[in-house]
Amino acid sequence: LQTLFIFYYFNNSNHTRHSTQTDNTVSGVIAGVQLLFHTTIYSRGGGGKNDNQLIVDDYHGQKVPDPYSWLEDPDSEKTQAFVSAQNQLTLPFLECCEVRDLFKERMTELYDYPKYSCPFKRGSRYFHFYNTGLQNQSVMYVQESLDAEPTVFLDPNTFSDDGTVALRGYAFSEDGEYLAYGTSASGSDWVEMRFLRVEGATRLEDRLERVKFSCMSWTHDGKGLFYNSYPDQEGKSDGTETSTNLYQKLYYHVLGTPQSEDVLCAEFPDHSKWMSGAEVSDDGRYVLLSIREGCDPVNRLWYCDLQKTPQGITGLLPWVKLIDNFDAEYEYVTNEGTVFTFKTNLDAPRYRLINIDFASPDQSSWKELIPQHDKDVIGHYLFVCFLHDVKNVLKMYRLSSGEELRTFSLDVGSIVGFTGRKRDSEIFYYFTSFLSPAIIYHCDLTKEPLQPHIFREVTVKGFNPSDYQTTQVFYPSKDGTQIPMFIVHKKGIKLDGSHPGFLYGYGGFNISITPSYSVSRLIFVRHLDGILAVANIRGGGEYGETWHKAGMLANKQNCFSDFHCAAEYLIKEGYTSPSKLTINGGSNGGLLVAACVNQRPELFGCAVAQVGVMDMLKFHKFTIGHAWTTDFGCSEDKEQFEWLIKYSPLHNIHVPEGNGVQYPAVLLLTGDHDDRVVPLHSLKYIATLQHIVGRSPKQTNPLFILVDTKSGHGAGKPTSKVIQEVADTYSFIARCLNIAWVK
Ligand SMILES: *[C@@H]1O[C@H](CO)[C@@H](O)[C@H](O)[C@H]1NC(C)=O
Ligand SMILES: *[C@@H]1O[C@H](CO)[C@@H](O)[C@H](O)[C@H]1NC(C)=O
Repeated sequence: LQTLFIFYYFNNSNHTRHSTQTDNTVSGVIAGVQLLFHTTIYSRGGGGKNDNQLIVDDYHGQKVPDPYSWLEDPDSEKTQAFVSAQNQLTLPFLECCEVRDLFKERMTELYDYPKYSCPFKRGSRYFHFYNTGLQNQSVMYVQESLDAEPTVFLDPNTFSDDGTVALRGYAFSEDGEYLAYGTSASGSDWVEMRFLRVEGATRLEDRLERVKFSCMSWTHDGKGLFYNSYPDQEGKSDGTETSTNLYQKLYYHVLGTPQSEDVLCAEFPDHSKWMSGAEVSDDGRYVLLSIREGCDPVNRLWYCDLQKTPQGITGLLPWVKLIDNFDAEYEYVTNEGTVFTFKTNLDAPRYRLINIDFASPDQSSWKELIPQHDKDVIGHYLFVCFLHDVKNVLKMYRLSSGEELRTFSLDVGSIVGFTGRKRDSEIFYYFTSFLSPAIIYHCDLTKEPLQPHIFREVTVKGFNPSDYQTTQVFYPSKDGTQIPMFIVHKKGIKLDGSHPGFLYGYGGFNISITPSYSVSRLIFVRHLDGILAVANIRGGGEYGETWHKAGMLANKQNCFSDFHCAAEYLIKEGYTSPSKLTINGGSNGGLLVAACVNQRPELFGCAVAQVGVMDMLKFHKFTIGHAWTTDFGCSEDKEQFEWLIKYSPLHNIHVPEGNGVQYPAVLLLTGDHDDRVVPLHSLKYIATLQHIVGRSPKQTNPLFILVDTKSGHGAGKPTSKVIQEVADTYSFIARCLNIAWVK
């Protein structure tokens, strides 16, 4: 049981999945603790703050130097000079890549196809997102009916001149008459919330600030909504700061009142890392509060019966602590009266659906509605989307009995959008795959027999999917575990090791890497004669919690071994050869790429690591890094320190042994407003890499970093920046690996 899309269930956070192209997303992680052992043991000379000091940290008796800790201050002149000097080194190299302009031109041409989301109904109107092709941000349209002419409702391209302010989350009031939406600037996670009256798209005065990792859920009376914000902090908070995000709070905002009057509904003064999300139940009577402490798929589940607050929402809510531990995940699906359906991994690593009657909440009275499946990871019907060997399967059940009614047939690929709620009598779902950008199906649930119809199918001019093929293979990892991998290439090629390979992976945080459409990767396949490989390594959710746990904490090395074995498989089977192979990943996948390169430099010709986590001893100290200790552990614990120091990219850089063995060509990419994985990770890693490896005479491959401005972790990145970034990436690869452009 993987993603659960349910006919009458629609989680607001899923709304943001309207943009499904891989080209527009960095698979995202990664959604504190004070400095304990930071001691300066000696300092050379005077100078300014931090100048010429060698910082050496003491971890449980082990001394670990941190010579580039000065790069942790993003605002110092020294750091800024470092960044600009690096860019001045990298940019001319990229500008001289022959393929760069060709790639950019072709990308601009092929990316220019219409991009639609699934339509969804709010109140009496239909809405959808649409991008004509190259617009920097997708636009929200409104229609009175499905056949009516759509008109522009909310156009994020007007939020800024250069497209760098994006829509980040939105929620319609129950009657569909009001919209709350978030905007984020330069890719930062900070959000400002604004409001519109839907009729005439009239802007309201309300404005909410210091919002981050927030829920947005309206009470059904339409008076206001729940959201999250952080306490004021010293210094700036525009996404370039590195200060830690603790003590998130839940507020209720009453429409038409200033934020200063918002009602504090939940806070956790004894648990600085707890983050909560409120969701008003389908029937409007209950507020469900889901509390998390990190990125693990586990949460506490508290609720409040709004009928018990006759005065309205005026203060901390009288929460009933239904589940008050972090043993398992409970995700609200729907309720009929006091009988609540949850998706849970309790005693079911591949998930199941259970019913809990709030009138008799004792665990012994819980009932199973849909059990976990043997191999599949698992929405009055329930539409449930399973993940079977990394391919989606959509099934329909009867809610009252859990009886399976039918399976919707799909090609090999992913369902990345689903709309339809309890009151609606129709659903839409969005299918995509490596070779098909989008097929949106519509199914009218009142017409027997049920028959989904293609509502919209997008094809890309100048690209013929039937010239290519997708294969799924299973290869053994170091410990014998079979790992799934998708391979995409032109039909009829010779497997003689001559083709350039592009291997992508992520491996963490329970995130499943399902088939997706990427124009840039297809250009690589088409014009650089390449082989695209996506390895579903451990740490992801491809086979549920078991798969996740096998690639986290003490098992993190499995991710790297799985990735190495993917490369070895591709080489052994003749798809590519080490000198032609590039590895790529972002965020936790940037960590993957850097760790793999440190461990097996001879196995790859090129490595592109985006917005990576590189300092495994200190990541928890910056912004939301503390939330990742659930996957990584934390250096403040002695045992966990031992795991981390073994693979931390920053701490495992050595000149490779062996004659002629060198590091592959390396390109790191990051952005000045990345406040998810702060840029200092990449800065410190490249500085160390250049210092240790770059000075070795046998290192002839370049070791570069490019730091973009007004750019963040990936979400909301304007199309113009996306195109530039892929042109830079693939031209770097082509130049370093000597790959010619095939017309
Ligand atoms: C973890 O992964 C499973 C399977 O892919 C998915 O059903 C579940 O929602 C995920 N949990 C979280 C918190 O992302
Ligand atoms: C996107 O933004 C860039 C500036 O960042 C601008 O040059 C370009 O014209 C915009 N694209 C469109 C289609 O508006």
